[in-house]
Amino acid sequence: MGMVKFIMRFMHLLFCFLQTCGCYFSTSSHRSSQFFSDPIEAVRDIPSGATILVGGFGLCGIPENLINSLLKTGVTGLTAVSNNAGVDNFGLGLLLKTKQIKRMISSYVGENAEFERQYLTGELEVELTPQGTLAERIRAGGAGVPAFFTATGYGTLIEEGGSPIKYNKDGSIAIASEKREVREFNGRHYIMEKAITGDFALVKAWKADKAGNIIFRKTARNFNQPMCKAAKTTIVEVEEVVDVGTFAEEDIHIPSIYVNRVVQGASYEKRIEKRTVKKSQDEKPKPKKDSDIVRERIIRRAALEFEDGMYANLGIGIPMLASNFIKPDITLHLQSENGILGLGPYPTEDAVDADLINAGKETVTVLPGAAYFSSDESFAMIRGGHINLTMLGAMQVSKHGDLANWMIPGKMVKGMGGAMDLVASAGTKVVVTMEHSAKGGKHKILDKCILPLTGKQCVDRIITEKAVFDVDKTKGLTLIEVWEGLTPEDIKACTGTDFEVSNKQFGH
Ligand SMILES: *[C@@H]1O[C@H](CO)[C@@H](O)[C@H](O)[C@H]1NC(C)=O
Repeated sequence: MGMVKFIMRFMHLLFCFLQTCGCYFSTSSHRSSQFFSDPIEAVRDIPSGATILVGGFGLCGIPENLINSLLKTGVTGLTAVSNNAGVDNFGLGLLLKTKQIKRMISSYVGENAEFERQYLTGELEVELTPQGTLAERIRAGGAGVPAFFTATGYGTLIEEGGSPIKYNKDGSIAIASEKREVREFNGRHYIMEKAITGDFALVKAWKADKAGNIIFRKTARNFNQPMCKAAKTTIVEVEEVVDVGTFAEEDIHIPSIYVNRVVQGASYEKRIEKRTVKKSQDEKPKPKKDSDIVRERIIRRAALEFEDGMYANLGIGIPMLASNFIKPDITLHLQSENGILGLGPYPTEDAVDADLINAGKETVTVLPGAAYFSSDESFAMIRGGHINLTMLGAMQVSKHGDLANWMIPGKMVKGMGGAMDLVASAGTKVVVTMEHSAKGGKHKILDKCILPLTGKQCVDRIITEKAVFDVDKTKGLTLIEVWEGLTPEDIKACTGTDFEVSNKQFGH
């Protein structure tokens, strides 16, 4: 036995020595990255119970071949860190269906009915994490920063703890999220968030060179970039392996040091979640329903918030539609949190590109002068207060500007996506666009929100089809506009809290 051990030890040393020589003397064949031709071989050593970081945003930039390979190796009990979980029958949704995932760490559950169902029935653990916090936790993990402070989530369930991670069958909470430490810096509150690292990162890139450097395409970069750096073993699947020098050194997004394995995918389906195209000129507009008229009134008023030169992030729905009514003489730079500055209109049919989507997972275009970047960069931009305006919908808003728009306990949990980060940024104006009342006339503008908050004292202005309010975070609401034919008295009758009436607009 001792002899066998000795020989093995000797062989090992000899092997290391030869390898070292290889490094010193070879000029072209040394690679830090291992290249695979079969994606199953690239993931074969991922054990059950591993934590995997899985790149992608919606279905854009997901490692489809690596995910399919995990279906074949059959590992179970995985913790998957990924912004979304694909859709029911594509992407990570496939691994949910086969029950190979025990826990998801994500910002958004919506779009995948099976994901939402497994979570709400207690079959799956879900740590809902604000999108920017998720991106930064991964970035920090890769950069050796164990924790950091962020304003995102302060005053919400994220800070308070008790948010459901796992439900019991009866709908009660089996595992709840932990309370966060709060610290004050320069008069603002921040919460401590811990870094995330993984055993393996499964990444989708566009091209790798033979040295293992990689580049991404358009918005397919997203979470892939920070994830490359935050795992013990990073496995990257690419569309093409090219010779060194094919792309310039200064264009490399991820240097080879972060890339352990490269595999070229045999094919890519690149499924599109929401294929949206520009309406052709001769398409007849549909007859308008009452609800459309209400929406359009809000949309047109919302568009008046845009000022020349602004950088704005617009939520899905009414805010995004407002961008169709930008005054022709101003320039508005639209940011999309999945990694675009300079968002353009929907593409024509022939310009649809699966690697170019907005935060609503719709196919889009970009304008000349646009830039693409990763999710951690995008939220640094947002958190850092570089965006002038954020506009988003709401389920409830309080008179002091508390906002609720991400969950109805026990009923609907879509996730907060990037909303908590967007509203927590100091220096960014937060405008809420919504219908004045909910279905059945229930108030949405209240003394206090009843639903779990997205942000505390964060809203600056509320625009509805009936009125516009300015929000003072301590004094409360001031009515500054009403829709034609309405009076401040009418608004009082349909609003769930009291408010001041602006003397300037309604002076007597
Ligand atoms: C947008 O914000 C920047 C600071 O980040 C500021 O310098 C600029 O004046 C703002 N632009 C508009 C149009 O509000």
